Amino acid sequence: MSVSARPTHDAETEQYQTVFTGKVLEKLQVLLERYPTKQGALLPALWLVQQQRGWISDRNMTEVAAVLGLTPAYVKGVVTFYTMYHQHPVGQHFVQVCTTSPCNICGAEDVVHALLQATGAKELGATSPDGKWTVIEVECLGACGFATPVLIDDDFIESVTPERVAELVRKYQ
Ligand code: FES
Repeated sequence: MSVSARPTHDAETEQYQTVFTGKVLEKLQVLLERYPTKQGALLPALWLVQQQRGWISDRNMTEVAAVLGLTPAYVKGVVTFYTMYHQHPVGQHFVQVCTTSPCNICGAEDVVHALLQATGAKELGATSPDGKWTVIEVECLGACGFATPVLIDDDFIESVTPERVAELVRKYQ
């Protein structure tokens, strides 16, 4: 079970602090050696930013674009395409529930409802008042035979039912 600290530094309202300095810059340089072009390192570079800041702000996207020789618009297009990247601060635990049709007919909506209740997040995309939980719906997670699949941070959990939710949430408290 992974429990990651997710700082909520707000790069939009405070004086901007560069992400790629010190050890983070070293990690980026290692990444860049693995790819034939700088553009190829875009996804892991964005992941580095999210690990550091908890989410990816427009200023962060501009910094990534500058470092990789891309346009901010291109970087934003990638960030907005993938649900794994957060465009605003999220809870310490980020929960993704598949509600695509095959899971939906097996009760995914009930799992979502149980998660919103158990975590206190109350609505999709909102963060619980204690800052611990954000729950979202996502498209097919590739485990259609194991409805309902749920991702909590980096942990993939299959066959979640409303009855299992309270116990699951307790494990991450
Ligand atoms: S439809 Fe839910 S995992 Fe594929």
